[in-house]
Amino acid sequence: MEERLAIAIDGPAGAGKSTVAKLVAEKLSFLYIDTGAMYRALTYAALREDISLSDGKEMRQLLDSLTIRLVNEKAYTKVLLNNEEVTEQIRSNEVNQHVSLAASHQAVREEMVERQRLLAKEGQVVLDGRDIGTHVLPNAKLKIFLTASVDERAKRRHEEQVKKGIDSDLEQLKKDIARRDEFDSTREVAPLKKAEDAKELDTTSLTIDEVVEAIIDLAKERIS
Ligand code: CDP
Ligand code: CDP
Repeated sequence: MEERLAIAIDGPAGAGKSTVAKLVAEKLSFLYIDTGAMYRALTYAALREDISLSDGKEMRQLLDSLTIRLVNEKAYTKVLLNNEEVTEQIRSNEVNQHVSLAASHQAVREEMVERQRLLAKEGQVVLDGRDIGTHVLPNAKLKIFLTASVDERAKRRHEEQVKKGIDSDLEQLKKDIARRDEFDSTREVAPLKKAEDAKELDTTSLTIDEVVEAIIDLAKERIS
């Protein structure tokens, strides 16, 4: 069965996907599903259990042993790994540095996509990630590809970390983001790519509210 009514939001790191997707979902009373958090939870588990992140078979076995639950709270999405809360831990620099490798394996992606499609059947949904419009929900009613310059995206992450009191190096962030984008865009399985029928929105000089409004307007056009 096809998903009921879905909005797919893809794009590179720091483009504003999760912030905007969550707000759009709230305004439309849709369910928000942060697919990046699922790859992050798997990466965190592999690092903790000392499993080789480059071994697709082992990573799939690990994933098969995990339940990953996303619980939407008012301000953030709580992430539960086998019922243990790992919301903060999955945003660490160590996870940032390894998550693209963990997400590159076909065996891992097959299972993740299956889980994401099941979640999408729960109702009207907004999913954000890298391959939602191209692979997970190719028939989504509305597909958005969010971008922003690398400098702007690194600046946003930097400000976010400073606000949280985390040590933050802007130049390092720029390098990390550019490296992750390159890896995600050039992997063989479901690379980060704009779906042909996605609407591209460059958010470099847009506020969060402006981006949300633009998406809501598009959603209203499609979902009437
Ligand atoms: O928040 P940020 O954009 O930094 O990353 P994320 O959305 O949490 O995703 C973390 C990583 O998971 C990405 O860099 C991708 O390697 C992977 N990912 C993916 O391959 N496919 C998705 N649908 C979502 C995330
Ligand atoms: O999910 P993704 O990695 O694409 O980005 P995010 O985590 O939603 O956004 C990264 C940071 O940029 C957040 O701190 C947002 O508040 C901020 N942001 C912004 O300043 N302006 C926008 N138009 C969108 C996001």
